Amino acid sequence: QVKQATNQIVMNCADIDIITASYAPEGDEEVHATGFNYQNEDEKVTLSFPSTLQKGTGMLKIDFVGELNDKMKGFYRSKYTTPTGDTRYAAVTQFEATDARRAFPCWDEPAIKATFDISLVVPKDRVALSNMNVIDRKPYPDDENLVEVKFARTPIMSTYLVAFVVGEYDFVEARSLDGVLVRVYTPVGKAEQGKFALEVAAKTLPFYKDYFNVPYPLPKIDLIAIADFAAGAMENWGLVTYRETALLIDPKNSCSSSRQWVALVVGHELAHQWFGNLVTMEWWTHLWLNEGFASWIEYLCVDHCFPEYDIWTQFVSADYTRAQELDALDNSHPIEVSVGHPSEVDEIFDAISYSKGASVIRMLHDYIGDEDFRKGMNLYLTKFQQKNAATEDLWDSLEKASGKPIAAVMNTWTKQMGFPLIYVEAEQQEDDKVLKLVQKKFCASGPYTGEDFPMWMVPISICTSDDPTCAKMQILMDKPELTLVLKDIKPDQWVKLNLGTVGFYRTQYSPDMLESLIPAIKDLSLPPVDRLGLQNDLFSLARAGIISTVEVLKVMEAFVNEPNYTVWSDLSCNLGILSTLLSHTDFYEEIQVFVKDVFSPIGERLGWDPKPGEGHLDALLRGLVLGKLGKAGHKATLEEARRRFKDHVEGKHTLSADLRSPVYVTVLKHGDSTTLDTMLKLHKQADMQEEKNRIERVLGAISQPELIQKVLTFALSEEVRPQDTVSVIGGVAGGSKQGRKAAWKFVRDNWEELYNRYQGGFLISRLIKLTVDGFANDKMAAEVKAFFESHPAPSAERTVQQCCENILLNAAWLKRDAENIHQYFLQRKAPPAMV
Ligand code: BES
Ligand code: ZN
Repeated sequence: QVKQATNQIVMNCADIDIITASYAPEGDEEVHATGFNYQNEDEKVTLSFPSTLQKGTGMLKIDFVGELNDKMKGFYRSKYTTPTGDTRYAAVTQFEATDARRAFPCWDEPAIKATFDISLVVPKDRVALSNMNVIDRKPYPDDENLVEVKFARTPIMSTYLVAFVVGEYDFVEARSLDGVLVRVYTPVGKAEQGKFALEVAAKTLPFYKDYFNVPYPLPKIDLIAIADFAAGAMENWGLVTYRETALLIDPKNSCSSSRQWVALVVGHELAHQWFGNLVTMEWWTHLWLNEGFASWIEYLCVDHCFPEYDIWTQFVSADYTRAQELDALDNSHPIEVSVGHPSEVDEIFDAISYSKGASVIRMLHDYIGDEDFRKGMNLYLTKFQQKNAATEDLWDSLEKASGKPIAAVMNTWTKQMGFPLIYVEAEQQEDDKVLKLVQKKFCASGPYTGEDFPMWMVPISICTSDDPTCAKMQILMDKPELTLVLKDIKPDQWVKLNLGTVGFYRTQYSPDMLESLIPAIKDLSLPPVDRLGLQNDLFSLARAGIISTVEVLKVMEAFVNEPNYTVWSDLSCNLGILSTLLSHTDFYEEIQVFVKDVFSPIGERLGWDPKPGEGHLDALLRGLVLGKLGKAGHKATLEEARRRFKDHVEGKHTLSADLRSPVYVTVLKHGDSTTLDTMLKLHKQADMQEEKNRIERVLGAISQPELIQKVLTFALSEEVRPQDTVSVIGGVAGGSKQGRKAAWKFVRDNWEELYNRYQGGFLISRLIKLTVDGFANDKMAAEVKAFFESHPAPSAERTVQQCCENILLNAAWLKRDAENIHQYFLQRKAPPAMV
């Protein structure tokens, strides 16, 4: 529609050559464009017409040639091997955020919605898929090897959700309870591996239909595994694309964490079919609405499908703590952030949009209650279906449904960066406890000293040892300080804030309040998610220099009786961070001793082989603990890992999928060139991408310099899929002190190739973070900064700043606490002093 008379049309277009373009006003003669002026920087083209196009509707026709590129964006080719060993290519699309314009000229913005009628001319023996179902398939007149496949018209939708795939695939199918045809497309010969995702998808569609009270709007949905794929998965409407490892499960060779990952990713992308596809964000500033929401509800969905995963506890260690880690930096950003250029859009696919977004929605859901939350969701989805919405629109709907001041509360979380630290102290007054709460911005560098006083509206819950699972008091803290009276609390009773670790804040207890909580860790009377949160808060307070690291080490030792996988996983992660820090000292071995001491009791309790009646979480815990002990050089674990590895390699006894990662990492960490060669051979032989990735991720554990080089060279070889190079290099950087230096040098030496491979994109940010985050002196921060000044990566600018900040924080931490930590380790080892 021409809204205003003009002789120019401007549209998005990148790496495309237009051959002819014409405009035909309805019922009138067509006019050919005479000039195509490409503005490459802006990814736009201006079509100039010899006469004025008058107001009214008409048809714009464009003949153009594009490139089937190999950069995993736009319309690109993905390499695969047939069962008989031939190399072939599939043609696939990845348009989010701004790459539909590489496949066809268009107005490539989320708020410019249209219907799409898609036809593909393809070799007749290939599968051709698009968003909608096929409505016609006929021979192509000019070539008997080709067919023309026509798809039904899509609903009104944004360009970034359009998709098509041409290749060779098998599939499994089912009809979900709500009548939608679901297919999972797999590589040829691997249809079986699609069954798990198919089951999850068939259960998930009716779950969302019921939750939102809005049906899935298309007649079919396909889920397809793509060999070369940059992201984890992409929610194209009706044709969701996945990395192979985010979709395929082999009953024998897939481990428990892969199953869980597949379930989460399927849950995430299917949620977007409503939240994102049916209702789309107005502009990328509101990307978090899409991603934060999907990253929250994927857990709700998995909890529904697999209650035995205890997935909500895992949310805290996977998303909540990760978001707080990033958001405590000066170089964080608000959830809602203004963006313009595509590189700025790429940049916000980060832990703030995803994990902080999901965390504040979890807090909001808890504050509103499920019933009103659902009402609000339904209001929002029905009001804005086939349209676009902004953050405020969601708050409006939830406010209507709940009667609570949602916008006022939530604006403090989405419009300003960071989150509060709540300092709390208690005073016993006869039978009551009087609590004094103070909120201040939490900073990774220590007490907040800024001039302004950012403030949050914080839903606070408080429980006591009387009933650790039930809030004794709930209150909205809407000012800097608050005094509360808890009635009938005996002096020996403890008090804890943030029940369930739901509020997006950290807590600092007065020393005596903290002391009273430690026994509740030991005797497990505090719930797992609260033990986890408490430990994580203390760890980050230590990193910020607010308390001493030795104090946290002592708390870690109180976890001797800990049975919970997720609690261990978070503890393990923090010990990993500390271990990396101490690799810069000459007492690195001492922290390995500490790790062995902390993990040995649980290792002994678990043993190597599953016991009858064990489940998903036991399998995850065993893998975690054995891997940790093995890496730290725990003798018995190392010996058993070597024995089992040998049997595995010799074909005597195949390792169960859940034991492979821990065994591989253990033998490599303490291995030599023969071990590495064996692993590379296993990699070559592996038929499943999951197994290849499993090996790729642990290769960096090897510690000899010449073998590290071999791994780095391997990372860029044909053997590794382009999207997986990042985790191989990252594994080297995180594997050892020597690896860290070597990986950084490797990235600098191969910068052009790496940058080119990902064309900016978010993988380059991930690579940078994995490679340099572990450094710990001011000089390295300067070196990193200088390198990226001369080798700019626009979409990774903020990541580089965050990394430099992290390096400086590490350096300060090391200076402040290393000596005390060392003393503590020595004193732990010393025999008790004689009196
Ligand atoms: N919309 C994203 C895919 C995406 C990511 C497109 C980055 C463009 C840039 C998709 O819904 C998504 O979030 N995928 C996640 C997996 C999910 C389970 C968190 C991903 O790719 O990591
Ligand atoms: Zn998403």
